[in-house]
Amino acid sequence: MKQNKKVLRVTVHLSPASVDEMEMKDKNIIVVDVLRASTTIAAALKNGAKEIIPVSSVENAVKISGSLFGDVTLRAGERNAKMIEGFNLGNSPRECTREVVRGKSIIFMTTNGSVAILSGRYAKNLAVAGFVNVSSVVGFLTALREDFTVICAGKENNFCVEDTVCAGRIIKKFMRSVDEDVVLDDAGTMSLILDTYYGKQIGKMLKSCDHGRYLTSIGFGEDIKLCGSIDAIDVLPLLSGNVIKLAKTSPVNA
Ligand code: MLT
Repeated sequence: MKQNKKVLRVTVHLSPASVDEMEMKDKNIIVVDVLRASTTIAAALKNGAKEIIPVSSVENAVKISGSLFGDVTLRAGERNAKMIEGFNLGNSPRECTREVVRGKSIIFMTTNGSVAILSGRYAKNLAVAGFVNVSSVVGFLTALREDFTVICAGKENNFCVEDTVCAGRIIKKFMRSVDEDVVLDDAGTMSLILDTYYGKQIGKMLKSCDHGRYLTSIGFGEDIKLCGSIDAIDVLPLLSGNVIKLAKTSPVNA
């Protein structure tokens, strides 16, 4: 007798505005902030940072770093994409060199990315994704073979094109790697269509989107190139308690 195929459901939030924290409890969550929080987190962990601690305010960042500030703990983050006064680092993935981040706990506060991560803090699993680690994240989802939800960080609680395209890229690769039926919500379907529309033109899309143009105007054009480099930073950042760490199986050059 023919057996019914298992169905995997994928949901997409185009920004954290539609996320109910408690509804995310015990779900598998992927947080996407291509420009630039996801990329910065991946770069810091790849270069040996011990952990990333996402926070929602400067006050919390200062409180948490306390007396360990500057020694084993760094503060990183941005407001309007620029470094915050009193912080060690901004939110540029290129600042996260091995010399700077190795062995450090990084308290991380960004306008959209850390907010999106915190909205999924009660998840069963939460992974951080960008174009730089898309295959690592899809490998994780494929091994899991469960329903999942993508939270796009977006821009100030609104849709942004780059995170939506990346959500679509994750979904497309996932659908190709599992034989179960994958059922998408409408935002997931739109993400997939947008990814197909841009295809190989990810670099062009990142340069021309709102935040890409802003980053270029303040001198971060090189960051955009890195953020659009598919699988350039092949790590799997996972939330564990209150901190983001590398999954044990991430291929790193420690
Ligand atoms: C954010 O979380 O809002 C961003 O990553 C902004 C930025 O480009 O620094």
